[in-house]
Amino acid sequence: MYRTNTCGELRLADSGKEVTLAGWVQRVRKMGGMTFLDLRDRYGITQIVFNNDTDAALCEQANHLGREFVAQVTGTVAERSAKNANLPTGDIEIIASGLTVLNPSEVPPFTIEDDTDGGDDLRMKFRYLDLRRNPVRRNLELRHRMTMETRRYLDSKGFLEIETPMLVGSTPEGARDFVVPSRMNPGCFYALPQSPQTLKQLLMVSGMDRYFQIVKCFRDEDLRADRQPEFTQIDCEMSFVDQDDVINLFEGMARHLFKELRGVELTEPFQRMPWADAMKYYGSDKPDLRFDMKFVELMDIMKGSGFTVFDNAAYIGGICAKGAANYTRKQLDQLTEFVKRPQIGAKGMVYARVEADGTVKSSVDKFYSQETLQKMKEAFGAQPGDLILILSGDDAMKTRKQLCELRLEMGSRLGLRDKNKFACLWVVDFPMFEWSDEEQRLMAMHHPFTHPKDEDIPLLDTKPEEVRADAYDMVVNGVEVGGGSIRIHDAALQAKMFEILGFTPEKAQEQFGFLMNAFKYGAPPHGGLAYGLDRWVSLFAGLDSIRDCIAFPKNNSGRDVMLEAPAPLDPRQLDELSLSLDLKD
Ligand code: AMO
Repeated sequence: MYRTNTCGELRLADSGKEVTLAGWVQRVRKMGGMTFLDLRDRYGITQIVFNNDTDAALCEQANHLGREFVAQVTGTVAERSAKNANLPTGDIEIIASGLTVLNPSEVPPFTIEDDTDGGDDLRMKFRYLDLRRNPVRRNLELRHRMTMETRRYLDSKGFLEIETPMLVGSTPEGARDFVVPSRMNPGCFYALPQSPQTLKQLLMVSGMDRYFQIVKCFRDEDLRADRQPEFTQIDCEMSFVDQDDVINLFEGMARHLFKELRGVELTEPFQRMPWADAMKYYGSDKPDLRFDMKFVELMDIMKGSGFTVFDNAAYIGGICAKGAANYTRKQLDQLTEFVKRPQIGAKGMVYARVEADGTVKSSVDKFYSQETLQKMKEAFGAQPGDLILILSGDDAMKTRKQLCELRLEMGSRLGLRDKNKFACLWVVDFPMFEWSDEEQRLMAMHHPFTHPKDEDIPLLDTKPEEVRADAYDMVVNGVEVGGGSIRIHDAALQAKMFEILGFTPEKAQEQFGFLMNAFKYGAPPHGGLAYGLDRWVSLFAGLDSIRDCIAFPKNNSGRDVMLEAPAPLDPRQLDELSLSLDLKD
């Protein structure tokens, strides 16, 4: 037997017991005639004491232990004289009587401590060592609990967990596919699924009624803090449901997860905000509602007073930062620099302070009378001590997005984005289509299987860009943690949708014939949603990036620096796959 107990288990009540522990050497300290060893495993740390007076040879052996050696220790549990209140095992220590080195270790490239000295690249290259650190390990434990709770909840609601294939066909909509060449079918490629969307719909045609899967999805898109090329969805689909049924069930699941994983009881129903309002008031389809600071549009008040920047603008809007009128010139300059950064792209920023006597002092005073400035103040409901920040631009949507960045920045600066506070909402009534400049055609905003709102179906022929969809996203603290829709289950409507998206009937049949044919055999009304597991876990763990809740993530260039993947293929393998390369430089 390698061990009788783990390193996190023993307490005062175990005093006097003869035990054997096994784990990694966290550190060794020599103090007088004693050597103290901190032995660590997944469960905790236990202090082991070697006494030079009683067993000099054993003590000498302990003095030679290096960091991260794997060691087995036998001894007796004893009460500590100097207790450590920070450790669950801090009341006891093991008086060692035996020590075996199970495996030595080279000096690790960074310290295995909560605050490591290892930079990102090094941590990723030696990820298996990084995972020994408490904060990262705790994230994986949280992820495990999240998947267990998910399974428990969905099982209790009658969902069946069904696996769908990883080698599927490429689909033209959505992000780019990762593709896999087929040796047995030369010149043909599988694609890795961007999501099991069409397959779960087919399972509804099969009568499975309620499906879920905790499933890997693959998308070849530009990476960001909340995006990995392979990520995990909690993918769900239900038959005989409308939008409210899906939203209610998954809101219930979100409450369950918050309670079980964060101990947070969310009692209020989640707000449901139409997409158009989210864009109008927050410039984003995923507004962070931990704080208010709604946009106020100022076109009527501020246009036409001789300030050419505003006079020529297609949008003028601002936010009111409560109590920030004491912002210094330097802080305001920093904010102006912030909105002018190329990633944000604003040309400049106008500010106005509400003074103690209620008058407004702005950076554009010479163009506006105090009367106009007062009207502006009232539009915001601003009070003495408040700071108003205004952006304008010739593209309303772009300017709103810039104002959204400014709002988030102000929220952060004013400490309004507390990671222990949670603001959940549903964004609903998404537009069915969005215009793609690149493709020069309408694209499905969610995906081509989304059902248009019944009342908007007549607009499909006349004003497709105004059609709204039965699509919904769940947003928590400004993060899109899930999204879904009610699906089209009618072959003719689905065919029409492909037509609007620019597919010829032949092309639609070639790409999606399997789905449209299935719809001819009694497809039930259905809909569903997918939660992003990685995003949920990083939200619960308070992380800024999803990377640290994934055991072996990719870096921002999509590389696994530990496995050194992707890598060129051996010419023999290329040959087997009937592939030859013509690399463009
Ligand atoms: P969607 O594309 O909105 O919907 O994805 C669902 C959820 O998955 C998460 N997500 C990601 N997480 C990490 N890295 C990524 N690259 C990434 N992309 C998406 C997000 C998102 O809300 N088939 C539909 C779902 C449905 O309609 O049922 C779909 O895939 O949290």
